Amino acid sequence: MEPVVIPAILARTREELLQRISQVNGLVGEIQLDIMDGDFVPNKTVGLDDLVSIPVLKNARYEFHWMVRNPEKWIERIPGSHMHLVHVETIKSFEEIEAAVRKSGGRLGIAINPETPLEALLPFASKVQRILVMTVHPGFSGQKYIAEMEKKIRVLRAKFPKLDIEVDGGVNLETIRGAYAAGANILAAASAIFASPDKKSAIEKLRACALGGGTQ
Ligand code: DX5
Repeated sequence: MEPVVIPAILARTREELLQRISQVNGLVGEIQLDIMDGDFVPNKTVGLDDLVSIPVLKNARYEFHWMVRNPEKWIERIPGSHMHLVHVETIKSFEEIEAAVRKSGGRLGIAINPETPLEALLPFASKVQRILVMTVHPGFSGQKYIAEMEKKIRVLRAKFPKLDIEVDGGVNLETIRGAYAAGANILAAASAIFASPDKKSAIEKLRACALGGGTQ
């Protein structure tokens, strides 16, 4: 599968959110929005009021990474064909989450934290469109990539050859090759893109490195 690089946006204010969206709009087909409630993870981002009226993009869709306690309550308020990544650690009723995603018109994926065993996710894997393997403990950008998580990616890729498998956390020019080689075809990155003055070139370099090319 071809590598797809997705910019991840972790914004505390609506202004910052809109600014970052505009910085990558037109460069990619999908943009990840990291949403944190200060409960499931020790950090808080923009909330529902800031999200309900985010700009509709002409050539890109949003991927919501829900690092919140009750994702179904958030999803049902966000209509549109977005990807909703829900943490397996937060699932109380999978049926309720499926119903909220159906009602919103979106698609469903599952995210898994580093400390959570893959077995927790496997019962849901064939019922979702994407799996996100976290390679940091979620909460903050700029953390170190946990390379051992590539084992999870390899097991998932062997079991599900056609499923979209995403990796998020510490993805940069040095780590992206390992994640892609292990079987992740979608690679989310925040600091490796937004810390660069030239977002387009940062995304292109990441993609080239995933494929095994150099960083130049
Ligand atoms: C982790 C978030 C990631 C994060 C990635 O808490 O889910 O999306 O923003 O940031 P980088 O790419 O800087 O590790």
